[in-house]
Amino acid sequence: MEVLAHDIVIVGAGIAGLRAAIAAAETNKKIDVAVISKVYSVRSHSVCAQGGTAAVMREGDSHDLHAWDTVKGADFLSDQDVVEFFVERSPKELVTLEHWGCPWSRTPEGKMDQRPFGGHSFPRACFAADMTGLVEMHTLHGRAIVQKNITFYDEWFITSIIIEDNVVKGLTAIDLKTGEMHAFRGKAIIMATGGYARIYEFTTFSHTSTGDGMTIVYRAGVPLKDMEFVQFHPTGLVPPGILITGGARGEGGYLINAEGKRFMKHYAPEKMELAPRDIVARAETTELQGGRGLEGPYGPYIGLDLRHLGEDKINERLPLIRDVAIKLGGVDPVDEPIPIKPAAHYSMGGIHANVKTETSASGLYATGECACLSAHGANRLGTNSTAGCLVFGTVAGEEAAKHALSSTFRELSKDAIMAEESRVFDGILGSEGDERVPVIRDEMRRLMKEKAWVYRTGDELESALKEIRGLKKRFRNVRVEDKGRSFNTGLVEALQLDFTLDLAEVTVTCALDRTESRGAHSRLDHTKRDDENWLKHILAYYSKNGPRLEYIPVTVTKWPPTKRAY
Ligand code: FUM
Repeated sequence: MEVLAHDIVIVGAGIAGLRAAIAAAETNKKIDVAVISKVYSVRSHSVCAQGGTAAVMREGDSHDLHAWDTVKGADFLSDQDVVEFFVERSPKELVTLEHWGCPWSRTPEGKMDQRPFGGHSFPRACFAADMTGLVEMHTLHGRAIVQKNITFYDEWFITSIIIEDNVVKGLTAIDLKTGEMHAFRGKAIIMATGGYARIYEFTTFSHTSTGDGMTIVYRAGVPLKDMEFVQFHPTGLVPPGILITGGARGEGGYLINAEGKRFMKHYAPEKMELAPRDIVARAETTELQGGRGLEGPYGPYIGLDLRHLGEDKINERLPLIRDVAIKLGGVDPVDEPIPIKPAAHYSMGGIHANVKTETSASGLYATGECACLSAHGANRLGTNSTAGCLVFGTVAGEEAAKHALSSTFRELSKDAIMAEESRVFDGILGSEGDERVPVIRDEMRRLMKEKAWVYRTGDELESALKEIRGLKKRFRNVRVEDKGRSFNTGLVEALQLDFTLDLAEVTVTCALDRTESRGAHSRLDHTKRDDENWLKHILAYYSKNGPRLEYIPVTVTKWPPTKRAY
């Protein structure tokens, strides 16, 4: 096994990972940066971001207003110092992308245009039609590949991280082309590995969004935070679950039930379709469960009606979703409502990290969706994700650079590396068991959808936890048919499944523990928000017997919790 060394090793090449790499590389040209990704950078899930990136760019808007919208949208579980930092930094990031050539949608005067978005009380989503993530990724990628001090390891799959005495030392990764495992030493390591909504059956997420980085650091002793808060996006296309951007409602789209009625007037009379996502997803679920869904070959659905916008506006502002709706939903939104329903979309929880993206292990940073810095609390506002990836990607790169400049490489324990090789190649690839990866994976995804979805109950969550533990046992007996090494996608699927099973277990354990309803976590057996007992974050630590939970307080600076109505 070869041991490679880079001052900073970044895992993940989406918006957060690329932004971190550029920030680190530009801080000091002598810093040697590696970016490891299991896919080519521009195939990272960030390219699927559609609707926009939030920033205060106009008169009439303010940092305080953006912060307030974010805190209220988050049902007061945000750490408000983090939110204030985030909203102040976001505009600078957008202007930086502008200088790097990002092709934004523009006003007739040539300024960056901004559209309304759910939960924001000002139109502050900068956008590029409905392909914002795609253009941001290409802008960042173009900037990153010209840096002489960044090396890309595309199609390398990381399997473990090495942390000793609370200091990060390196990691192990498989070069998928050769199938060989290698070790990396890094003075600083940044995790930017994205979310894990693939634990659910109906999701807007790419197949690759399996939360590997979260489980890897969790198993190494770093806690995950607020994992019970999974966001359900109101408009997942039926049947595939692909995102139909909230920008469609920002442009004036309506949600209608089987009676052709705009039902949001009963749930959020003021904001209607532009209420935060948790509220809209619950409203849709209530309509569907109440028998007011439209009937289709894949079961009842809600209609997203764009017809009144007209073909020209749809083509200019929403060309991607028109194409996707025609090809994968079988309807042209110019003529018919798009069939949609709530789909798992985002994890508010993730690797516990502070405003500097520091984790509990020295030298280890976390940014982007895999991290929980507590900006998004119990429910993230649309367009705050790409903004967060830019702001905290930069912070992670700068902080890691500072750390790397004042640290030395650490020796990696040969035993740890050999143990990991044996776990992967003898234990998982070598297993001759009779369980199949797709079977266990599909069962996990089905049960998460049935028992840990928009509405939850203690009984269902208990039952889900039991089933997940059963699946974890069965996983020990899994067999990968392809025993070869080069591009062994069966092995990759098995490793990903192993990671997602832990994340499903943590999500359900935390959801069971939180006996209140807040933001995206809605318990039918505990229907009220309970600030007295639950204005706190849950930390989940790995143990052999399942997650061990601890609690830390929420930071309130300016906005004590109040009633949340829209
Ligand atoms: O609806 C969307 O375009 C998604 C945006 C987001 O998750 O921020």
